[in-house]
Amino acid sequence: MEKFYLTTPIYYPSGKYHIGTAYAETLADFIKRYKTLQGYDTFMLTGTDEHGQKIQDKAEEVGQSPQEYVDKQAEIAKELWKVMNIKYDKYMRTTDEYHEKAVQKIFERFLKQGDIYKGEYEGWYCKPCESYFTETQLVDGKCPDCGREVKKMKEEAYFFNMKKYADKLVEYYDSHPDFIKPSYMKNEMRNNFIKPGLDDLCITRTSFDWGIKVLSDPKHVIYVWLDALTNYITALGYTSDNLELFDKYWPADVQIVGKDIARFHLIYWPIFLMALDLPLPKTILVHNWITMKDGKMSKSKGNVIYPDQLIERYGLDATKYFLLRNVPVSTDGLFTPEEFVNRYNFDLCNDLSNLLNRTVSMVNKYFGGVVPQYNGTPNEADVELEKSASEVITTFENYMNNYEIANTIQSIWSFVSRTNKYIDETQPWALAKEIEGESQSDKDLKNEKLKSAMYHLIASLRQIAIMIRPFMENTSNEILRQIGVDLANIKWDSLKEFKLIENAKVIEKGEPIFMRLNQEEEVEYIQSLMKK
Ligand code: MSP
Repeated sequence: MEKFYLTTPIYYPSGKYHIGTAYAETLADFIKRYKTLQGYDTFMLTGTDEHGQKIQDKAEEVGQSPQEYVDKQAEIAKELWKVMNIKYDKYMRTTDEYHEKAVQKIFERFLKQGDIYKGEYEGWYCKPCESYFTETQLVDGKCPDCGREVKKMKEEAYFFNMKKYADKLVEYYDSHPDFIKPSYMKNEMRNNFIKPGLDDLCITRTSFDWGIKVLSDPKHVIYVWLDALTNYITALGYTSDNLELFDKYWPADVQIVGKDIARFHLIYWPIFLMALDLPLPKTILVHNWITMKDGKMSKSKGNVIYPDQLIERYGLDATKYFLLRNVPVSTDGLFTPEEFVNRYNFDLCNDLSNLLNRTVSMVNKYFGGVVPQYNGTPNEADVELEKSASEVITTFENYMNNYEIANTIQSIWSFVSRTNKYIDETQPWALAKEIEGESQSDKDLKNEKLKSAMYHLIASLRQIAIMIRPFMENTSNEILRQIGVDLANIKWDSLKEFKLIENAKVIEKGEPIFMRLNQEEEVEYIQSLMKK
């Protein structure tokens, strides 16, 4: 079985996760479930990035030891992933002993190889970002990443010789077009960071001690990014005695990261891997951000939305649908209460839920709930629908090959609309009415058409249920239950055969899977969440 290894960023456990953080996790979970459905042996890694000054400060603020604090926070994170039904295979914490040992070994190896040297660092330090900047990198004298105050600092430190690998990295970019997605990120890295000359990276600190100590020089703590980035291999057992997972899954097939941490993943991470003589991940997928009307989500602006709040009121599937549908990977996506309610009402309720409902009630009315077996020659409308059904799978797969998630989902909804249009075209109610009182041959013909229409609608719904499965599992199950299609019959490959329904019997009375929301009330409700 072919393997598929994917990773999410490991999140700072410094507070409750908002929908922005949940976005990356949902995206990864979608890819993981899709690949699993396709028959891959998948492994998804997620976790928390638990060291560093910021965490130490947070713990102090609440009067706990850093360890106590991160233990509690990691549990809160896991709880949310449980609520969101995220199917990760391993939860990694950078305070796990195996990881700390592995990072120490990696550090010593770099030192021995001459990739790391000792020097003195002086620069402008941004405490919240845990990053040093040069004078020219500052924007109006402030941190270029977060815009906050920076302080001039100097300390003895170890450096990683990045310059040594710069040319090799550019060559790698050029010879591996799939390495960076979307591809425009490649130029951004090249123009903004590599062309001006890569600075060697300072990789230790003496200013705080909540971190992994350098084995051969313990007053130095390993800089959080070397600690954090290597999690993707230490989680698989790299440097330990048991390399089974590592041998099986590395290199990663896709590593998902937000644009703010692209630089670390597209420059430092591949260079660390080159220095370790390891293969690079096949793709690093950089996604943009969920933004609000007034910019970034932040507590001080009072515009933060938490995933559990949306899930509680609108359900998990609607929440995941919105996140993935409305945030294209390659541009920022706006969250507005109006848009959320509209998508719910139009896409989920009008388009999907009504399609299911109309179909189930027609099968009940015309065929006593038993989906008719249709073996005749398909008529024009059937052929068109079958063509769309087959095209949407190819479109879906092509978008997924490029990780264009929002487009993938949009293509499913085009097919939902197409199927609704098929009902308007075939007008089953008119066929049923006309059957009465016609000559026998006309009756047979129309009856055939009616059978065919029901059969095609159920086949389309089965296909839709499978395609939405990676991100709307509950809805998928509910559709399959209502149309009486066996859960055993949902392999991705089975999509290639449109008509795969046997002895299906729909439920007696269809139940709406999404009920129309009152636009005004719900917009107000979501706005009230943002003010809390
Ligand atoms: N700990 C580092 C990552 C280390 S990976 C080796 C970190 N953590 S974080 O918690 O600050 O951010 C984690 C991820 O959440 C980042 O990929 C970031 O882009 C993402 N997001 C944070 N806010 C976001 C939005 N508003 N929208 C989408 N993603 C956002 O950085």
